[in-house]
Amino acid sequence: MSYTVIARRWRPKKFDDVIGQPHVVKTMKNSVKYGRLSHAYLFGGPRGVGKTSLARILAKAINCLNITADEPCGTCENCVAIDQGSFPDIIEIDAASTRGIDDIRELRDTVRYMPLMGKYKVYILDESHQLTGPAKDAFLKTLEEPPNHSIFILATTEAQKISPTILSRCQRFDFRRISEVEIVKQLKRICDEEGITYDEEVFPYIAVEADGSLRDAESILDQVISFSGEHLAYKDVLSIIGIIENEILFTLIRSILEENLKMGLEIIEKSLNEGNDVHQIYRGLVSMLRNMMILKICEERPSFLHLADEEYQRLSGIIEQIEYYEIQNMLNYLLTAEDLLKGLFPKIALEILYINLYNISKLRDIEKIIDTTEKPEFLTEKREFQNEETLPAPYKEPEAGKFGQDAHGFVEYLKKKMPSVGNMMDSHEVKVEGHMFVVLADKQSQTLFTHRGEEVKKHLTEFFGRPMNYVVRDAGDTKRNTLDEYVKEAQSLFNR
Ligand SMILES: Nc1ncnc2c1ncn2[C@@H]1O[C@H](COP(=O)(O)OP(=O)(O)OP(=O)(O)O)[C@@H](O)[C@H]1O
Ligand SMILES: [Mg+2]
Ligand SMILES: [Zn+2]
Repeated sequence: MSYTVIARRWRPKKFDDVIGQPHVVKTMKNSVKYGRLSHAYLFGGPRGVGKTSLARILAKAINCLNITADEPCGTCENCVAIDQGSFPDIIEIDAASTRGIDDIRELRDTVRYMPLMGKYKVYILDESHQLTGPAKDAFLKTLEEPPNHSIFILATTEAQKISPTILSRCQRFDFRRISEVEIVKQLKRICDEEGITYDEEVFPYIAVEADGSLRDAESILDQVISFSGEHLAYKDVLSIIGIIENEILFTLIRSILEENLKMGLEIIEKSLNEGNDVHQIYRGLVSMLRNMMILKICEERPSFLHLADEEYQRLSGIIEQIEYYEIQNMLNYLLTAEDLLKGLFPKIALEILYINLYNISKLRDIEKIIDTTEKPEFLTEKREFQNEETLPAPYKEPEAGKFGQDAHGFVEYLKKKMPSVGNMMDSHEVKVEGHMFVVLADKQSQTLFTHRGEEVKKHLTEFFGRPMNYVVRDAGDTKRNTLDEYVKEAQSLFNR
């Protein structure tokens, strides 16, 4: 097979070949069928979604010698010439390089001449938003009195930059991004037809990377084929696109759920040593969390989410263990923190980002940390509890207790029930935090307080009228300071 790139070999040749632009195609077919042509069209939309292709198909349809109902025949002299790019009446102009007044004057002169082979001369003006100054004025003059035999098609990725005077003379078509589902389908079709085998999961990766552009997807496919040969292997695709392996991302997310930050930091180190860069890890995390969020919202596997079966199984397992708000918090945080990675120390930034991700995942209400300078209780609650007793239930407003709700009231109560402990506690700082009763104690008293913990807990439950945890904390706790710093750091990030 002679070598032309896939994007050119697979350029759509008739209306029905065009993918993902049904609204545009339908209108265009009708105007061909009923002969309602405009003198100027504006094709706006993202790159690589079929603007130039449709401009040529339209040119073909109106110049085809045996047009059927609404498709060019593809075999007449004109159709063949157009497909080969040798049709003299299609004039493609790149506005980016044809901005001078002379070029446009020349255009104005040639516009007058009759077409050589076809019924219409079709001018396709690419990147037309780049026409400026006198060139634009000259072009406008042309548009004002277009000869009957010429049609202008302005294509642009930035339709908002086209001036209103030009816009008002054009019939406008807005092209859409091509969906991941459609991109995957097309890539598969191309491989099947070209006899290339593949690991099923490669296509979604390419589709995501192409970001709505079918041409970009096809170019990536070209690269992968020239790298991998007849079989597209998952690993090759990842390394070509520069995507981080799922395994690494799964481990990172798991380390957060299992509160094993050491494992997470190690996997970051390993992955960077293997040649991945911080941005890849970052982007990988964003896309994995996004998938998790979507799966958590849609109970079924939604058709727009392209996941290999295995990845789907694993993600389903993970989202069982995590609350929706945690996923959303992490994703929110990641999206605001991207700039961190642009500094001088991207690796450290990534590590901090990862640790913050862990802290933030635990916040019930992220607005709280953004809006107030107060330290949210639940952040410290979970972390400081983990080495002590069982983890607390999610915070609920306290119900009215049997005897009272205040910590010093309890100490009085305890003095009666367990005088030795109660009297000692009287000289210590105590407080109630949600489901916890906290005593801040120096090293010596700590032993006594914890030693009789079970009894104290019984009285706590009695006094407050609900299950309470009993926590004895070191009055000179350093962990607390570190946590405060995390909170401050997180706050400063959000406030920037
Ligand atoms: N809607 C589509 N249907 C089928 N193939 C498409 C479509 N869009 C793009 N392609 C593929 O991408 C190639 C390039 O498309 P085209 O030149 O029409 O894009 P474009 O919108 O004009 O892009 P640009 O804005 O970069 O000029 C085509 O040859 C084809 O292989
Ligand atoms: Mg184009
Ligand atoms: Zn034809």
